[in-house]
Amino acid sequence: MKPYFKKGLILFSICFLFLSNLPSFCQKINEPIKKKILENRECFKCHGGHFYYYYNDWVEKDIRERMNPHFVVDSTKFYSSNHKTFACIDCHSYEYEEFPHSGSLRMEPIYSCMDCHGGDENSAEFNFEQIEENFINSIHSNKHGENFTCWMCHDPHTYEINARTNESIVDVVEYANNICLNCHTNVEEFQILTDNKNPDIFDTHNWLPNQSSHFKSVRCIECHTEINDSILVAHKILPKDQAVKKCVECHSTNSLLMASLYKYQRKENRNAAGFINAVILKEAYIIGANRNIYLNWASIAIFGFVILGICTHTILRIIKK
Ligand code: HEC
Ligand code: HEC
Ligand code: HEC
Ligand code: HEC
Ligand code: HEC
Ligand code: HEC
Ligand code: HEC
Repeated sequence: MKPYFKKGLILFSICFLFLSNLPSFCQKINEPIKKKILENRECFKCHGGHFYYYYNDWVEKDIRERMNPHFVVDSTKFYSSNHKTFACIDCHSYEYEEFPHSGSLRMEPIYSCMDCHGGDENSAEFNFEQIEENFINSIHSNKHGENFTCWMCHDPHTYEINARTNESIVDVVEYANNICLNCHTNVEEFQILTDNKNPDIFDTHNWLPNQSSHFKSVRCIECHTEINDSILVAHKILPKDQAVKKCVECHSTNSLLMASLYKYQRKENRNAAGFINAVILKEAYIIGANRNIYLNWASIAIFGFVILGICTHTILRIIKK
């Protein structure tokens, strides 16, 4: 055999071995997530749209019903949310697999963010403890205590981190403001907490010139929270009489906005100019370590196949001798 032919053959068998094993290998590591997606599909059959079907034993036929719009979960948003790797029954009782759902499930206790994230090393970068402290001292908690939960601003099925990852300030502003406006322009949501009249936000801010353009370029929290350097998004909403009203707080160089909203942009610019600072390095490292487990596995696999290839090569040479 010509040496290059032999080498070609070995290379070919290595590639063949690797490629033929890749699908089953990927399947194995994806198994847990796949299982959850299949489980969730059962729930989405009914909770994914505005109608659902079930077989009615009493009248012995299939029934098509309206789904309560508040109980609809958008699957696209769910699978891009922070908790996209979750099965519904990781947070909800597995008894929901039965339909009709048992009436007592309505009283199931719900997890709080801190049940899972409190003291968790993997989410240390977010500083949940400080956020919680901020939140407990906010005007919302002062007025409504435990009835005001983190979930009210962070929809359990759609919330996705934004300021931290989104490059566009406009999108970051829109995302954050919609969280507030969801209650402050919506009586139905607002009155879950109180029978008080919902003040008209656009009326109460009419002292602000070009209001709509301000609401598009600054977040509500810029004027309504105390800046906190140890967390990225301040959570201590102050009473209204402490809100920022002075134009110069923003309309000057070295302003409030530089310290809050634009701190991300400044970080981006620094990065683009090549000044990679320790914080960014640290985040990139954490992201690499967390997110790319599949890549890590794949690289271990490739390494394994290379070793295997070398061994085959050596054995072949010994046999030939
Ligand atoms: C056959 C349709 C159907 C399936 C499948 C289904 N649900 Fe439901 N679900 C409903 C309907 C209808 C309601 C409205 C209230 C009721 O009937 O109990 C509901 C209500 C709920 C509620 C709100 C209960 C409340 O009163 O606050 C939760 C939570 C829930 N479902 C979770 C799930 C989960 C998790 C799954 C999957 C394991 C699931 N459901 C599968 C139809 C379904
Ligand atoms: C990260 C945890 C988590 C996951 C995952 C999750 N839920 Fe929920 N879900 C909650 C919490 C918390 C509430 C209660 C929210 C509230 O009362 O403000 C809730 C409420 C609901 C409700 C009632 C809606 C309401 O406003 O009361 C339905 C229906 C529901 N979930 C269905 C699902 C389905 C279907 C899935 C899977 C696609 C799912 N949930 C996955 C945490 C979760
Ligand atoms: C039942 C446990 C549980 C609850 C409750 C929970 N989380 Fe999580 N959360 C997790 C886990 C586990 C991850 C990591 C998921 C992953 O890496 O796929 C996570 C991820 C996150 C992330 C990081 C997402 C990313 O892309 O890095 C944020 C932010 C987050 N959760 C916020 C919250 C907030 C805010 C709440 C409450 C409103 C909350 N979580 C409630 C378990 C939970
Ligand atoms: C009044 C509304 C509100 C409440 C209540 C609230 N948050 Fe937030 N939170 C926000 C907004 C707005 C953002 C910015 C969203 C973005 O850009 O990622 C945010 C962002 C976050 C982030 C991401 C910050 C980052 O570093 O990327 C975490 C984590 C978080 N909140 C946790 C919590 C926890 C835990 C609670 C309860 C103790 C809570 N939040 C209560 C409005 C709220
Ligand atoms: C430029 C700063 C600024 C921005 C941006 C801003 N606010 Fe305000 N807000 C104020 C000030 C100042 C007051 C107090 C007004 C007064 O008492 O005359 C106030 C008052 C309020 C009140 C109390 C209303 C009442 O009459 O009880 C609410 C609620 C509120 N703001 C919510 C929001 C929301 C939601 C957003 C984002 C859409 C927002 N604010 C954006 C400065 C701001
Ligand atoms: C779940 C609904 C809900 C969400 C979401 C929400 N709020 Fe509120 N907020 C309320 C309620 C209810 C009150 C009125 C409290 C009262 O007077 O009983 C209030 C009061 C306020 C006040 C007036 C405080 C005062 O001194 O009277 C401000 C300012 C405010 N919210 C800002 C915000 C900002 C900024 C956000 C977004 C980060 C936000 N809210 C998100 C429900 C909400
Ligand atoms: C929280 C920070 C903040 C405060 C407080 C604030 N502004 Fe602004 N203002 C902005 C931002 C951000 C823009 C948009 C700049 C841009 O788009 O380039 C803006 C834009 C404007 C514009 C131009 C609007 C347009 O459509 O081009 C005017 C005029 C203005 N502000 C006046 C004021 C006045 C007067 C006050 C005090 C009553 C005030 N602003 C308070 C942040 C603020």
